[in-house]
Amino acid sequence: MRRLLVTHALPYANGPLHLGHMLGYIQTDIWARAQRMLGNEVHFVAADDAHGTPIMLAAEKAGKTPEAFIAEIRQGHEADFTDFHFSYDQYHTTHSPENRELAELIYGRLRDRGLIAKRSIQQLYDPEKQMFLPDRYIKGTCPKCGTPDQYGDNCEHCGATYAPTDLIEPRSVMSGATPVLRDSEHYFFELGKSEQLLRDWFAGKYTAGQPVMHASVAAKLKEWLDGGLKDWDISRDAPYFGFPIPDAPGKFFYVWLDAPIGYLASFKALCDRTGLEFDDFLGTDSTAEMHHFIGKDIINFHGLFWPAVLHGADMRVPTALHVNGYLTVNGAKMSKSRGTFIQARTYLDAGINPEFLRYYFATMLSAAPVDVDLDLKAFEERINSHLVGKWVNIASRTAGFAHRHFNGKLAGHFDAAEAGLWQDLLGHYEGIEQLYADGDFSEVTRRFVLMADAVNAYIAAKAPWQLAKDPAREDGLQQVCTLALSAFRLLSGLLKPILPASVASAEQFLAAPIADFDDARRELFGHVVGEFKPLLVRVDPKRIAAMIEASKESLGSDHGAAATATAADTKVATSADKVPVSAPASTHDATGPAAEISIDDFAALDLRIGKVLVCEAVEGSTKLLRFELDAGVLGKRQIFSGIRAAYSEPARLVGRNVVFIANLAARKMRFGVSEGMILSAGSGGADLYLLDADQGAQPGATVR
Ligand code: MSP
Ligand code: ZN
Repeated sequence: MRRLLVTHALPYANGPLHLGHMLGYIQTDIWARAQRMLGNEVHFVAADDAHGTPIMLAAEKAGKTPEAFIAEIRQGHEADFTDFHFSYDQYHTTHSPENRELAELIYGRLRDRGLIAKRSIQQLYDPEKQMFLPDRYIKGTCPKCGTPDQYGDNCEHCGATYAPTDLIEPRSVMSGATPVLRDSEHYFFELGKSEQLLRDWFAGKYTAGQPVMHASVAAKLKEWLDGGLKDWDISRDAPYFGFPIPDAPGKFFYVWLDAPIGYLASFKALCDRTGLEFDDFLGTDSTAEMHHFIGKDIINFHGLFWPAVLHGADMRVPTALHVNGYLTVNGAKMSKSRGTFIQARTYLDAGINPEFLRYYFATMLSAAPVDVDLDLKAFEERINSHLVGKWVNIASRTAGFAHRHFNGKLAGHFDAAEAGLWQDLLGHYEGIEQLYADGDFSEVTRRFVLMADAVNAYIAAKAPWQLAKDPAREDGLQQVCTLALSAFRLLSGLLKPILPASVASAEQFLAAPIADFDDARRELFGHVVGEFKPLLVRVDPKRIAAMIEASKESLGSDHGAAATATAADTKVATSADKVPVSAPASTHDATGPAAEISIDDFAALDLRIGKVLVCEAVEGSTKLLRFELDAGVLGKRQIFSGIRAAYSEPARLVGRNVVFIANLAARKMRFGVSEGMILSAGSGGADLYLLDADQGAQPGATVR
């Protein structure tokens, strides 16, 4: 059994959580839950990051003390985490006695080891506000291109980076005053002295050769390392909201010094509460593991400073950094005006099941720190298709028969067909543990879809509703129930870290707990299942629309009033208990036949086989893939197809056969001419599947 301390990046206590935060946070919770199911000892801790100038100023603006301000924000954060089913062992704040004590301890050790230097620097000072100004609080004209109104660290127009003192006509964002240069003594952590430590750490010296991070992250950090490590300024002058540096009147620890120490403070609070030994986890000879989940924007703090600080303070270094990419919504950066800057609370208030976001993110996450797009249409379709249409459906299609015909009791064995299918399912389930441990959640959910499809196809083929009419075929009916509900349990086991609440309901229905991944592997022979109640309802697109509406920023004061009213109205209109559960949308999942046609109508279609020569994403489009097909006698064809959400690695399609309509009028699109249409099955979004042709079909062959 491994002992794991697990953390995620600490959200700043200066505003509510948004869905960007939730990406990495949900990833962490899924991983922690999976590790618990694997039988490991997991301590999952986090906290609010409560210090720094922006928080101090935000509190001032709100007319509150920083303490009152951060307490309120923390309450909001914790409520969000609870509602998204986070399984923390401890949630804390960096503005806590534990953190102050640890920050002082660590700083003291760094100082005693000669890793802290003091020197005077010149910094811009706001004479009116009487404080030193962080770069972001100074604006002026770009020294490079002359664009006015640029921040003190870089120009948004030409991209130049510079020192705030280089700005032409600088002014304080806070008071408008012209800042003046002032001397101030600062404390520096001499990072350069940790170069060898960092090289050893990257090389796996502290992790028995195991890599501590994804190769792409390691490459980036090594680049910085090779470029030379600069001393790190860890002090700030009063006024500052933070911890005072001992024996240094008027000086405070920079927020980024005590922020990661906040991980340890949260863990310390847990230790104090439960009797765990702090040093078992943090001592240099600890055999426990420390896993940090962070976003890609903060890898320098966690991959350079943090291990160096820990080591310098005689503590163990991290076992692994798990890095997530950035979230975009509908293919673009989150935007207030488009209503895609969505707060966690707005999502919840729209009445959308929080587990749906957990599932959608899981389908997009792997160990690589790649950006993730929340395509709201794909979200709706994927949830409705995968969770309602595939998973819950297995139980809802069979539970009734189990009750009406067998009082809920399942068969004591599998017949040959069922035994074969069960083995197939176990085959797909094999290795789920490792996939979770590796953070490859998208592969976990891909397996889930494969398995669920196989079970649903089996149920459709067996047609239990037919078997139920014939008393002579009761045994067959019981086989269907037994296979389907055992498979439902297997899938529930697979989904448990992602959908903790829904799976808890599933366990209740099955009257069979799933404590670990192995539990789910056992067939429910002779078992009596409980009453089935609908586990999930489909996502209502109206709720998604309401969420976007409520996220739109008020533009100007008049609009502001209107926007507020709209948000309030939609909230009432969409509150969870008011919207009737919608029936399945008729356009997709459509099973009814279309109007009859003649053979001539069909013959009018020139359907052909095309072999994919090129397949690539279209820049500037979130939906389209560009195909070049070898169409045999018809030559080459370029076709744009809106299936990008379903095929994230278009290059993999090269070489395979597709079916396309060859005599559709060519269409001029923004990206070029599309000469036909490629056929795929499904409801749209991510739920689309290209048609295939068996071996031997030649490019250009007609399809009849
Ligand atoms: N307080 C620091 C972290 C200190 S850790 C000792 C911080 N806070 S933050 O609120 O700005 O960000 C918290 C986490 O959310 C970070 O991991 C950050 O990368 C992540 N994200 C913030 N916006 C994000 C997206 N749009 N997409 C994905 N992750 C994002 O940084
Ligand atoms: Zn510029």
